[in-house]
Amino acid sequence: MSLGTITMSMRLSLQIITAFLFITATASSPPSGFTVDLIHRRTNSSSPRRSNTDDDQLRSSPYADIFFETSEYLMKLTIGTPPVEIEAIVDTGSEVTWTQCVPCLNCYKQRNPIFDPSKSSTYKEQLNCNSPNPSCDYTLMYGDQSYSKGRLATETVAIQSTSGHSYVMPETVIGCSHNSSGRFRTTTSSGIVGLSWASLSLISQMGKSMHGAFSYCFSPEGTSRINFGSNAIVSGDGTVSTPMFTKKEKSGFYYLNLDAVSVGEARIETLGTPFHAVDGNIVIDSGTTLTYLPASYCSLVRESVEKVVTSAERVTFPDIDTLCYKTNTMDIFPVITMHFSGGADLVLDKNNTYMANGQAICLMIICGPLSPNAEKLSLFGNRAQNNFLVGYDHSSLKVSFKPTDCGVTQDNMPRDSISAALVLQFNIKFVLFIFFLSLIRL
Ligand SMILES: *[C@@H]1O[C@H](CO)[C@@H](O)[C@H](O)[C@H]1NC(C)=O
Ligand SMILES: *[C@@H]1O[C@H](CO)[C@@H](O)[C@H](O)[C@H]1NC(C)=O
Ligand SMILES: *[C@@H]1O[C@H](CO)[C@@H](O)[C@H](O)[C@H]1NC(C)=O
Repeated sequence: MSLGTITMSMRLSLQIITAFLFITATASSPPSGFTVDLIHRRTNSSSPRRSNTDDDQLRSSPYADIFFETSEYLMKLTIGTPPVEIEAIVDTGSEVTWTQCVPCLNCYKQRNPIFDPSKSSTYKEQLNCNSPNPSCDYTLMYGDQSYSKGRLATETVAIQSTSGHSYVMPETVIGCSHNSSGRFRTTTSSGIVGLSWASLSLISQMGKSMHGAFSYCFSPEGTSRINFGSNAIVSGDGTVSTPMFTKKEKSGFYYLNLDAVSVGEARIETLGTPFHAVDGNIVIDSGTTLTYLPASYCSLVRESVEKVVTSAERVTFPDIDTLCYKTNTMDIFPVITMHFSGGADLVLDKNNTYMANGQAICLMIICGPLSPNAEKLSLFGNRAQNNFLVGYDHSSLKVSFKPTDCGVTQDNMPRDSISAALVLQFNIKFVLFIFFLSLIRL
């Protein structure tokens, strides 16, 4: 082979490589479903919150989240170009996905380095959004008095699936937070992954390819997961479903109807109490640890537990109104069942409803609001959802539950569901590769 032909074939192969890249870029159709491993982070939130002096409001909060262990499930994402990894709390109660950004007016300590938008070539501040504020500043106040303030921007977000593929979302609206504090701090997360059904949530921005469907399986000990699109289907033995509702005043929340709670054999109906509703009375929330019911209805549940637990002494703690007993066994406590409308009866494991706290075991259903500014908000928290595969489906408007040992790694671990276009793309690559090899041999 002469030098001339080598140059020629090099040029040809360059062209082919270019064509190859082009085909990859254009024929690249995102997978129709994928799965991501989650990080479970638990903290005895009383210690970090109490030792911190910059936040008197939270420090003096008489509420339950400074007494019980906090449990959050974090998802890894990358944002920006070049990609920077963040770990953010999976939160069905939030719309905007945000991360802390420099410059920090008031940043809490996080495990990952803080994102620097000036180093990303794809970061664009939102200039013409529909808010009265032309610079699109945002302020998020959460039910537990946590907050985040910053700028809305568009940025490339990528999610690494368990099968190694990356689901890339260019020009995704995210929040770049310059002032934030609260529960994110206790778990040293980088922010929030918003999964509410409002339009800026990550699931809404994934668009049609994921059919507005996701499911998660929170394990108390093992590996927890979140699934999107066709991987998110919840079906098979034991699956129950209940309608989900939205409300104008709290538009992003997933409301469910809690018809009754059973304590052992005693069924306590919401019907006849102010808590009863037909269009949603409780919010299912992946970002809150405990379950909160309105005080009047909740006291009926509590009284029923008290009737059953007769063999242990009640203990009280200063600052917090909880039902606790001096005991080291959960055997003496009744099983609690949550009855959601449409026949979705969730028989909860005792680990989902009671927590050992050193010398006592306490009921993890809290009577009253999460905080003074979350009045009238009843919450079904993540601890009670442990070991259920929980699916949200924006097209059927249903939330489904399937009892599942979430920590067990299944042999048939969900893989990405790859569309036909992707397979075609692979074949084209393969043919080109063979062609390329044959050119080299010339
Ligand atoms: C951060 O936001 C909080 C809550 O709104 C506010 O009180 C505080 O002054 C802000 N801090 C800075 C440095 O802007
Ligand atoms: C409940 O938690 C305890 C302590 O973590 C554990 O030993 C026990 O196996 C758990 N029970 C179930 C049914 O998961
Ligand atoms: C939290 O504190 C309780 C007692 O105060 C202790 O028994 C428990 O082990 C602690 N948990 C963690 C995760 O530190």
